[in-house]
Amino acid sequence: MKLTVFKNEKDIDQAAADSVIEVIKSNPEATIGLATGQTPVGLYQKLVQAHQNGKVSFKQVTTYNIDEYAGLAKDHPQSFYDFMKTHLFSKVDVPEENIHIPDGASSDLEAEAERYEAELEKAGQLDVQILSIGLNGHIGFNEPGHTLHAETHVVTLTEDTREVNSQAFSSLEDVPKKAITMGIGSMMKAKKIVFIAKGEAKASILKQAFKGPIDPLVPGSLLQLHPNLEVYLDESAAEYL
Ligand code: GLP
Repeated sequence: MKLTVFKNEKDIDQAAADSVIEVIKSNPEATIGLATGQTPVGLYQKLVQAHQNGKVSFKQVTTYNIDEYAGLAKDHPQSFYDFMKTHLFSKVDVPEENIHIPDGASSDLEAEAERYEAELEKAGQLDVQILSIGLNGHIGFNEPGHTLHAETHVVTLTEDTREVNSQAFSSLEDVPKKAITMGIGSMMKAKKIVFIAKGEAKASILKQAFKGPIDPLVPGSLLQLHPNLEVYLDESAAEYL
């Protein structure tokens, strides 16, 4: 694990974006795993800036998002597709047909999870996977539990996660109870993981994830096993590392 600690949030975003840009420069047809949440927003801004300055093109890039809420169609304002459209897809030149995200509106979620995993398998090893961590240690929507799934699957969100994520919804009742998420195994296959976390609220879970034992009750701890894990943190997130 290559850990870098920054004083300034903008510097994290730039360093993480540079790492992604390096991948696209060395392979314009790169495959990229994307995550949502507030943490990677700054990284996406830096990618957009680099695109606007003519430093990088996404024309031949293919993207795979790690998760999506069940029951939300792509055009739902709280869907992860809409989030990605707002922060990245509508601002760079990635072709629509190169964008992959589980279909949360599918009437058969299990079948959709299988279809998505098959797409990932067809794509092979992703060139880079962007990740962050939830307050309870979840990665994507792989929630803490005694068993973890390797592949894309349907998950029941914990009440903690629904509550944290309710900030983006008008009420807790509006937060979906289920989601489709890549498994930890699908994410760990990537050639490189660019992991970001910011703020003191994440400090204690980061200690458990990166200093503690590998434990399915802390799904982020599985990342310790990745041979090419880049971790970008600010000083408060890195407090116990
Ligand atoms: C989610 C996402 C995760 C993300 C996490 C943390 O619900 N499924 O991929 O890492 O929350 O989000 P934030 O970056 O807003 O703290």
